[in-house]
Amino acid sequence: MLNPKRFLSDLHHLRSFGAAGVGKGVVRPAFSDPDIAAREWLAARMKEAGLEPRFDPVGNLFGIAGEQSLLLGSHTDTQPEGGWLDGALGVIAALEIARASKEAGGPPISVVSFQDEEGRFGVTTGSAIWGGNTVLADADPLTDRDGVSFVDARAKMAHLAGADVSPALFSGYVEMHIEQGPSLDQSGEKIGVVDSIVGIRDMRITFAGQQNHAGTTPMALRRDAFQALSRFNAVLNDRFRNVVTPQTVWTIGHVSLHPNASSVVPGKVTFSMQWRDGDAERLRRMEGIIRETAQEVADGGGFEIGFGPMLGLEPVPMDKGLRARLAEAAEAEAPGNWRHMPSGALHDATNVARLMPVAMLFVPSIGGVSHTFDEDTDEADLVTGLRVLARAAGVDVG
Ligand code: GLV
Ligand code: MN
Ligand code: MN
Repeated sequence: MLNPKRFLSDLHHLRSFGAAGVGKGVVRPAFSDPDIAAREWLAARMKEAGLEPRFDPVGNLFGIAGEQSLLLGSHTDTQPEGGWLDGALGVIAALEIARASKEAGGPPISVVSFQDEEGRFGVTTGSAIWGGNTVLADADPLTDRDGVSFVDARAKMAHLAGADVSPALFSGYVEMHIEQGPSLDQSGEKIGVVDSIVGIRDMRITFAGQQNHAGTTPMALRRDAFQALSRFNAVLNDRFRNVVTPQTVWTIGHVSLHPNASSVVPGKVTFSMQWRDGDAERLRRMEGIIRETAQEVADGGGFEIGFGPMLGLEPVPMDKGLRARLAEAAEAEAPGNWRHMPSGALHDATNVARLMPVAMLFVPSIGGVSHTFDEDTDEADLVTGLRVLARAAGVDVG
């Protein structure tokens, strides 16, 4: 029978791999030692549950229950500073439901923990490769912010890697996740049944000027890379006003300034430029504005400009049939206290949607925060999510 205590205990145990910061923080980036140790622990837990654990060539870990099984899961890697639930919740809920179903002689439920959902190298890298949104040959040369390549990182798991896992084993995919935003927390609702996932674009931009002495170089003669970034950001925000909606988001989240010293006019800056929206056409228009603005800033100040490869995922609707099952289960577990909603965060489900029907459900995030050590959810809400997912999967909830 579904065992919420065992589910919570496994969830807390998973946090012990890379536990950091105050509260319930975790540092477990893809292919780090804690990430690999967590995956080995999870594989052992899958085996104990009667599933067949299999790692694919990029570190995705599947626990297979048999052919035509429903696949449940998410990811167990984290952001450089992450919380204990982002990804982990969906994987451990899947494990508990698969285990409970085996024990009760219920339907076959398989489990997955995708690798590098958090984009140390790309955007949802492991599931993007499995789902065919990215080919391995294009992913291998991608580098993280320290210059480590994907191919070198995945070599750390070579001793575990097996063959590709065929998507034909699975009849559909359902991912439970924390909302990571404020809607459910503010409304007091317990479950969000996702209707669609936004699209994303992500690339690196470089401005190269002239590194020089911060005391002797007159302001008028400088080609200061930080000033270029600052101007780019201000002009971009202004130009986007005519194109975006209140749901559109864009972020410069990583900046590498060279040589990053107080008494040196910085000669070079490389930064991440990411934007998200539910409308692919709007994403395209924003790309045009980004490239044009960067070029103008470069031309106006004597900078060389470099654009890295643009990564992206399209907006994706969820499968109607699976959504209806989730909605029915949500109504049974939280009558009148749930909603349909879009996902502003990216998820592995986006990639899996190329292969089979997919759906997602959310539970509330306290304070609407995630991608921070402060991320948390009330344990009673985690258990409600577990029960909704189990019901939707046709597993006895007791
Ligand atoms: C995934 O974590 C995302 O950035 O939405
Ligand atoms: Mn996640
Ligand atoms: Mn995340």
